[in-house]
Amino acid sequence: MANEQTENVTCRINGIEVTVPRGTRIIEAAEQAGIGIAHYCYHPGLSAPAMCRMCLVEIEGVPKLQPACVSTVAEGNNILTESERARESRKGTLEFYLINHPLDCPVCDKSGECRLQDFVHAEGPKHGRLRDAKVIFGQDDFGGNILYDGDRCIMCTRCVRFMREVAQDDLLGVVQRGHRSVIDTFFEQGLDDSPFHTNIVDICPVGALLDKDFLHKARVWDLDHAPSICPNCSQGCNIRIDTRDNLVQRLRPRANPDVNSYWMCDYGRHSYEWMNGTDRIEAPLVRDGERLVAQNWQPAMLALLDRLKQRAGSVRIVGSPMLSNEDNGLLARLGSLLGAAAPVYRSARAEDEVVLPGFPKLARRRELAANGRGLSALGFERVGDDRAQGGLTSADVLIVLGDELADLPADFGRDASLFVYLGHRLHPAARNAHFVLPVSTFAEQEGTFTNFEGRVQRFWPALQPPPLARPAWQVLGVLLAGLDDGPAPADAANAFLRVGSFFEPFAGLTYEMIGTRGALMNEPVAIGAGGGD
Ligand code: SF4
Ligand code: SF4
Ligand code: FES
Repeated sequence: MANEQTENVTCRINGIEVTVPRGTRIIEAAEQAGIGIAHYCYHPGLSAPAMCRMCLVEIEGVPKLQPACVSTVAEGNNILTESERARESRKGTLEFYLINHPLDCPVCDKSGECRLQDFVHAEGPKHGRLRDAKVIFGQDDFGGNILYDGDRCIMCTRCVRFMREVAQDDLLGVVQRGHRSVIDTFFEQGLDDSPFHTNIVDICPVGALLDKDFLHKARVWDLDHAPSICPNCSQGCNIRIDTRDNLVQRLRPRANPDVNSYWMCDYGRHSYEWMNGTDRIEAPLVRDGERLVAQNWQPAMLALLDRLKQRAGSVRIVGSPMLSNEDNGLLARLGSLLGAAAPVYRSARAEDEVVLPGFPKLARRRELAANGRGLSALGFERVGDDRAQGGLTSADVLIVLGDELADLPADFGRDASLFVYLGHRLHPAARNAHFVLPVSTFAEQEGTFTNFEGRVQRFWPALQPPPLARPAWQVLGVLLAGLDDGPAPADAANAFLRVGSFFEPFAGLTYEMIGTRGALMNEPVAIGAGGGD
């Protein structure tokens, strides 16, 4: 009664009182109360057709069970998701799904994260009663990255709705009727040219849609997961890195309504093989005449410090937009201590942005690296062309972080009196360095990237680095300490605070404030303005 004029309504779900804004669907109100309601066709990023009938719940005083995905809570509702009637309904629904489902869990890529498997295991029928043969559809290549297994499809239409509502590229439809219904593309037109279509694999609740890239690669229960940020453009999509045997097996989106909703682009999703590269620098290398000699960290760092203290002439600093704010921030600090000119970086740029029409805040940005915006906030200048080539010149003292120098001539940096290379791989130009120091990639360490709109976002380690590789912030922190610029940071959070103490855009921010959804840095930013990158 009191709530008639207000925005909120209060109801009880399984005896738990919950107050939610008027218009909230039961399934969402239940989630706020910590109660999961089984569902297939409902997805928070899509419209709800209420067609799978899994989410039926009992509302006291309402004669029929109601679909929780479309019914909204009303003041005083007493909702029961575990009543005898609700349970019987789910059991019956599952029995219908199992009439034609092939139950090929032992060979299905979705096994271990399949909602049919989960719900049947939890409360489905123990035995099938049907003796007729199952309907057989077989597999269909939908083009692009997708294989369709019609036998496993439960016709929830999430994939069709994603293509229609979010990708706004109506390339899938339901054909035929009743138990002959099947998802299909239109004639010969497949999904090939649709840049966000692999999201349908994530949202398919069963193993009917398969990503060709992940096909039969790993059982999902063998995978380790790490929350991370896609490094492949400046959008900063929140992702999960799934690994096995210290190799990235797949990237999947992680929900963040401020950045990427539930989605990510196909380009970013499938650009991960570089993280698995084996040709890594394994140990610190120190020049001895014409040779580079492997050394332990301590003697290498002591020798480097000596050389840095005796340096003379111009100093040039090169950073990397594929590495964190912490790494590049301490590099920029080292540059300013050494009296370097403005530090520089190179990054590849695509011709255009590729926008997701149903969530236009998400686009594959022109800048094909995660942290270009972070580097500008740290005072770096972008040089070189859109292929991340050219623009680098040598100097008396040259310190390069992360840039592979792959396009540069084999004699690049030979005339420098001190050339320090911190990186992952040893291309010919990097072999001219006096000190080669192995550092971890972003996927092997904790840190932050700053996305196109100035949102600082955290990522966590997904892979083990080579045994002697260290995060660049750790190496640079030790060098700074050796130059009497304060103690070396003990961890990534501390390194971030150090960066904030030198660079105003990051001042006052902490890992706690950034949390899992990110925080805007202290710079005027035009949110949603794309920024042309
Ligand atoms: S393919 Fe998957 S997402 Fe599409 S209708 Fe079938 S079960 Fe649903
Ligand atoms: S839009 Fe950018 S950040 Fe997002 S998945 Fe694609 S490449 Fe990665
Ligand atoms: S989730 Fe409610 S009917 Fe499918």
